[in-house]
Amino acid sequence: MKFEMEKTPARQIYNLLIGLVAPRPIAWVTSMDENGRLNAAPFSAYNYLCTDPPIVGMGVMNRPGRGFLPKDTARNIRRTGEFVINVVTEDLIEKMNICATDFPAEVSELEMAGLTTAPSSVVKVPRIAEAHAALECKEFTTMEIGRSRIVLGRVVAMFVEDQFIVPEQNGAGPYIRSEELHAMGRMNGLGSYVKTRDAFVTVPRISFEDWEKGKRS
Ligand SMILES: Cc1cc2nc3c(=O)[nH]c(=O)nc-3n(C[C@H](O)[C@H](O)[C@H](O)COP(=O)(O)O)c2cc1C
Repeated sequence: MKFEMEKTPARQIYNLLIGLVAPRPIAWVTSMDENGRLNAAPFSAYNYLCTDPPIVGMGVMNRPGRGFLPKDTARNIRRTGEFVINVVTEDLIEKMNICATDFPAEVSELEMAGLTTAPSSVVKVPRIAEAHAALECKEFTTMEIGRSRIVLGRVVAMFVEDQFIVPEQNGAGPYIRSEELHAMGRMNGLGSYVKTRDAFVTVPRISFEDWEKGKRS
């Protein structure tokens, strides 16, 4: 089948695009409003964009069917300038999903999911205590594009449980023990996710010198 975007309703474009740009990491974002009320929600239109400086990007659509009202996460980030991205792992996938429910404003998603928080080291917004890793971010900028917002965040601190760190040695590392962290990826809008357990393939980078040697042998 072929789809021309100009003739395709936005909802269908969404369904197709999120199934084709996959798997995606999931930013499980904690943010706070100006009165200190905490919010948690997942966003898979997410990736890191550069590392020097460390910038992550996140696409947050407006609330469906309600004009141009931003989701709480985008509104909080605009107002307080801070947020935390908690890494979604296999053990936390159900709790992450509960946080995507459109609860009334006065209901805490974290409470509904039975989660607790731990203080962050630089930003005021706490991280999810049960998450094994988290990125503390300050808003770099928010761009309004059509009915969406693209939030760029500057990572100001990272938290990773010690067991998931390969320490620096002889000038190399530190690295993340991805094989043990069991991060999850989102696959489509039908509720499919991908586990990263046992899914690792190691493909070392090839230097030009090795490439040349290989061609001659
Ligand atoms: C795995 C997952 C990924 C999601 N990714 C996005 C996304 O990238 N952008 C978006 O606008 N909504 C996304 N959502 C929906 C939001 O999480 C949902 O609208 C949430 O209620 C927003 O909460 P908030 O108003 O508290 O910010 C996703 C939901 C799930 C379950």
